[in-house]
Amino acid sequence: MKKNEVETKMRENIFDSLIESDSLFVDRQAFEHGFEPDSLPHREKEVRGLGENLVEALRGHIPSNMLLYGVPGSGKTIVTKTVLKQLKSKGKSNGTAVKAYTINCRTVDTKYRVIQGLANRLERAGDIKIPFTGWPTDKVLEEFRRRMDRRGGIHVIVLDEIDHLVAKVGDSIIYSLSNLNLELESSKCCIIGISNDLHFTKMLTPQVASRLAQIDLVFHPYGANQINDILQERVRHGIRDGVLDQSVVGLCSALAAQEHGDARRALDLLRIAVKKAQQMGHELVDRGHVRLAQSQLEHDQLTPVLRTLPLQQKILLFSICINEENGLKNISTGEIYRTYTEVCMRIMIEPLTPRRISSLLNELDSLGIIIARNVSKGRGGRSKQINSAIPESLDVMAEMRDSEPMIEEASKSKYRLQRPL
Ligand SMILES: Nc1ncnc2c1ncn2[C@@H]1O[C@H](COP(=O)(O)OP(=O)(O)OP(=O)(O)O)[C@@H](O)[C@H]1O
Ligand SMILES: [Mg+2]
Repeated sequence: MKKNEVETKMRENIFDSLIESDSLFVDRQAFEHGFEPDSLPHREKEVRGLGENLVEALRGHIPSNMLLYGVPGSGKTIVTKTVLKQLKSKGKSNGTAVKAYTINCRTVDTKYRVIQGLANRLERAGDIKIPFTGWPTDKVLEEFRRRMDRRGGIHVIVLDEIDHLVAKVGDSIIYSLSNLNLELESSKCCIIGISNDLHFTKMLTPQVASRLAQIDLVFHPYGANQINDILQERVRHGIRDGVLDQSVVGLCSALAAQEHGDARRALDLLRIAVKKAQQMGHELVDRGHVRLAQSQLEHDQLTPVLRTLPLQQKILLFSICINEENGLKNISTGEIYRTYTEVCMRIMIEPLTPRRISSLLNELDSLGIIIARNVSKGRGGRSKQINSAIPESLDVMAEMRDSEPMIEEASKSKYRLQRPL
């Protein structure tokens, strides 16, 4: 390279071209999970439901405890966040002491840490620090109560993804928190639980269920048109004019509506589709980019599930896959069981009974890894036909070999497989 060529290269900043290549977005943050949109289309009823209860706090009364539930991506977290923000701002402007705090129980998932997290929000200079572990839980609760009374007013405690916490440690935390009002002197509190498990209350003892779910607020899944409106709003905010082919938003909405009406899924699809177009140097985002985004999302979702399947499930799936690779479709459970026992023999694993295998097949089906169809075999007999449901973009065998040495071992053998008809 000549000297002046080197100089030109040095003068170019590599970030110039990288910044330019981000130009299909105006504001990429509009698609990030923490983004707070200006409006919440199609959640007016839920916003009102929360507001009508929480307004009691502004009147100095205790709002009822609430349980919010609905499928993932139905807007529970964002609606609560928006309403709480307005509640706090109104409390400030009219001088009412309202305190609200949210704990995400997926990340903070023990009784001790939840109460510690709540108490920390009320910490003042000079307070004793509550250690991460070590105190008896009752002492942490006592300190929380002391700080609540010191602060006074109404406290709104939001436990988001509460189903994770209860599944892990039981419901005694809700019991303890919902009893606080009996002992608080100069403050009061209410609890809002948020769950995407529609059967969450079945995990609770009846006393706890009736205390928490004084008001139930159900978030119904969004339909395709509703998701479309949500996306349009973000597009206006986050994407350069004219770079989306007109069918793109509709396709993202339709795909997400099929996926239990999940607005998060729609936002992810659109964001990834735009990113793909950008990476490919295209100026227009079209349906093809959305399809690519869809398969990337499926890939990202399924890969960890496949990799962490228990050994027997992996052997079973391996048995299905080698039959499919051999050209077989609609494989009978009998045939799968035959291959499965052969695989077990090769790697010296004790095979499970056909009955257990049948229930493992149901589990794989409910994970969306296979599709098991019931077929009648005449004379009242029933059997299942199995097909894998893994998108082609995902190399399932490689994922399993990679994550499980026994499968690596099994894949070295030859098997006696049924020939396709
Ligand atoms: N009505 C709406 N208007 C604008 N954005 C929305 C709306 N509903 C949901 N969203 C957006 O969709 C994404 C998912 O919403 P949110 O996190 O509130 O779902 P969720 O019901 O809490 O789901 P999960 O049960 O998985 O926690 C967020 O980015 C949120 O901003
Ligand atoms: Mg949420």
